[in-house]
Amino acid sequence: MPIDPATPSHPLAVVTGASTGIGAEFARRLAADGHDVVLVARSYSRLERLAAELRQQHGVRAEVLAVDLTLPSAVQRIADALGPRLDEVAVLINNAGFGLSGAFITQSERELVELMQLNMTTLVQLCRRVLPGMQSRRAGKILNVSSTAAFQPGPGFAVYCATKSFVLSFSEALAHEVRGMGITVTCLAPGPVETEFASRATMHESPLFRWGKMSVGQCVNAGYRAMQSGRRLKIPGLFNHMLAFGTRLSPRHLTTVLASWMLGRRWRTTGTGVG
Ligand SMILES: NC(=O)c1ccc[n+]([C@@H]2O[C@H](COP(=O)([O-])OP(=O)(O)OC[C@H]3O[C@@H](n4cnc5c(N)ncnc54)[C@H](OP(=O)(O)O)[C@@H]3O)[C@@H](O)[C@H]2O)c1
Repeated sequence: MPIDPATPSHPLAVVTGASTGIGAEFARRLAADGHDVVLVARSYSRLERLAAELRQQHGVRAEVLAVDLTLPSAVQRIADALGPRLDEVAVLINNAGFGLSGAFITQSERELVELMQLNMTTLVQLCRRVLPGMQSRRAGKILNVSSTAAFQPGPGFAVYCATKSFVLSFSEALAHEVRGMGITVTCLAPGPVETEFASRATMHESPLFRWGKMSVGQCVNAGYRAMQSGRRLKIPGLFNHMLAFGTRLSPRHLTTVLASWMLGRRWRTTGTGVG
């Protein structure tokens, strides 16, 4: 669906995974802060409901793109829909993602490829598409959603954790490359958050998700403030922060064993969870 090319009256923000959870909350913050928003995810009706809420409450333009971001053609679809407005994107929130739990050897190869496409490839491609416009305007903000899963290997959640390590590494390197260009790149690395993520990944019974989940509001408040101030990495919550930095000081084997336990020893199971 092409997006109305009329001149925008507000800075433009693109949010992936905006139909629910962390992405929907980022969209609310951006609209409340006077951004026009382009909301991207698969569920058209959820996106439309949120867009109507944002138009009504904040008087901004809120547009909807129902796209499956695991498809290799997805980023081109977004670019085609935005047209020349791609170069006007002021804020990109790369948030869409899902997890697959279970023993790697039992997991569907197709689903693993989709996971990697969504969590890594689409995220990188979107950064690549918006950066030239940001560079020429010498202004722009990118926030990539990683996870505390990025800081250690995760048996039973192996590929998901590896994708989030990728996002962390890529984001920190990119932030360094674009310094001095008026562009900031922030990596948000939350611990467990109260969204649909854990049940979609069949992780809701794991010790990690049974204790101390953060609210979406707390997570997005921390991420939004970090993005506004141009911070490169934000781990919301003191406990998550300590855990993430504790892993840097501990032997790798020990953090792997601890992660396996906190994730509920999912590598012993034969099922997969699909988000
Ligand atoms: N919740 C946590 O505990 C937690 C912790 C650390 C990091 N994270 C990360 O935070 C991000 C957001 O997760 P969340 O907690 O808000 O989860 P969520 O409630 O499950 O929301 C995920 C969002 O991603 C979208 N999405 C999923 N697959 C998609 C696809 N193939 N194409 C397009 N959009 C897709 C979903 O929309 P549709 O289903 O409508 O497509 C939804 O809007 C993810 O990257 C996740 O890895 C979450």
